[in-house]
Amino acid sequence: MDVEMRVYGWIAIAISMVICLSLEETNGESCNLYEGSWVYDESYPLYDSSTCPHVREELNCLKYGRLDKQYLKYRWQPSNCNLPRFDGKSFLTKFKGKQIMFIGDSISRNQRQSLVCLLHSAVPQARVIKQGSDPIINFTYLDYGVSIIVHHTTYLVDIEVEKIGRVLKLDSLKSGNLWKQMDVLVFNTWLWWYRTGPFQPWDYIQIGNKIVKEMDHMEAFRTGLTTWANWVNAEVDTSKTKVLFQGISPVHYNGSEWHEPGVTGCGKEITPINGSSSSLGLPPASYVLQNVLQKITKPVQLLNITALSELRKDGHPSIHNNAHGMDCTHWCIAGVPDTWNEILYASITN
Ligand SMILES: *[C@@H]1O[C@H](CO)[C@@H](O)[C@H](O)[C@H]1NC(C)=O
Ligand SMILES: *[C@@H]1O[C@H](CO)[C@@H](O)[C@H](O)[C@H]1NC(C)=O
Ligand SMILES: *[C@@H]1O[C@H](CO)[C@@H](O)[C@H](O)[C@H]1NC(C)=O
Ligand SMILES: *[C@@H]1O[C@H](CO)[C@@H](O)[C@H](O)[C@H]1NC(C)=O
Repeated sequence: MDVEMRVYGWIAIAISMVICLSLEETNGESCNLYEGSWVYDESYPLYDSSTCPHVREELNCLKYGRLDKQYLKYRWQPSNCNLPRFDGKSFLTKFKGKQIMFIGDSISRNQRQSLVCLLHSAVPQARVIKQGSDPIINFTYLDYGVSIIVHHTTYLVDIEVEKIGRVLKLDSLKSGNLWKQMDVLVFNTWLWWYRTGPFQPWDYIQIGNKIVKEMDHMEAFRTGLTTWANWVNAEVDTSKTKVLFQGISPVHYNGSEWHEPGVTGCGKEITPINGSSSSLGLPPASYVLQNVLQKITKPVQLLNITALSELRKDGHPSIHNNAHGMDCTHWCIAGVPDTWNEILYASITN
């Protein structure tokens, strides 16, 4: 009896050791890419923006007089592993025959912009055809059969013009049939939920049969996002289509957020905030987003760029854009969105 117990004991220990070892291995592999800091790296940027034929004017910081260039030299360094350097040729080969769509506001456009520049620098001679115009633009790399598409839609849910005016319909999402045909979907919406006055693109909000003139905008964001989440649950075949959501992209208008109270705008910022991604708090919208994502039963990855981008007060165009306003919302190209794409690449190829 004793001997038997001891044998069983050893077997149990052996089994638990195997389990421990394999857990350690998976933990090593699924390292948190979002926990880390920015390090200066002479080998950056990943491309020379002046050779990229597609840079949108409002993101072309060097063209519009940005003189400091250190902001181009930072590489994101996760604490416990390395982020693979973006490899455009391998990206195109891996996604041969596939369609990748960015869907959302101008931050989605910003990320798509970075991706086409990254790909251009890898295969400058590749034959590319551009089809469509705003809101849907499709770049196809003919030699690889890869399409990179952007659908510019500020809220994901619909705005419709009716007799009373423009109605933001929080429970209506009509573009889904196009989206679900794609192979990779990268969603994003946030920037426009707090627009008011002349910049607000709707006059009324509708939920079900109820039409209101105003409601709490964070609640509206939560409701619209939940409509999207329900659509993913009901309609997307996630064994064919990979779904990602890009985390809230932070803005840098208020120096209090980086311990320089009194500073307004990002016009003088030429270095990142010194510290790690865990040193700053997250914007409230991030919690709403995480909360809605948790309710989706299908696999949806959060491209959790918020904290790492929060450190990059130096990454925005500020006045170096064709509109000459102070833009601390979008990101220079080349720049921070190149890192988002390195993370996207690492996330969807694993
Ligand atoms: C993008 O263009 C390619 C090549 O013409 C086409 O096959 C594909 O259907 C287009 N995708 C979308 C969503 O328009
Ligand atoms: C910046 O943020 C601080 C702290 O939240 C706030 O007190 C201040 O009013 C803000 N400044 C501006 C210009 O919005
Ligand atoms: C950033 O922090 C590190 C470590 O705390 C320090 O050595 C370095 O001097 C700091 N850099 C700046 C620009 O403050
Ligand atoms: C996203 O990153 C932030 C900062 O590192 C972290 O607090 C948050 O839990 C992450 N969200 C998810 C869903 O992993």
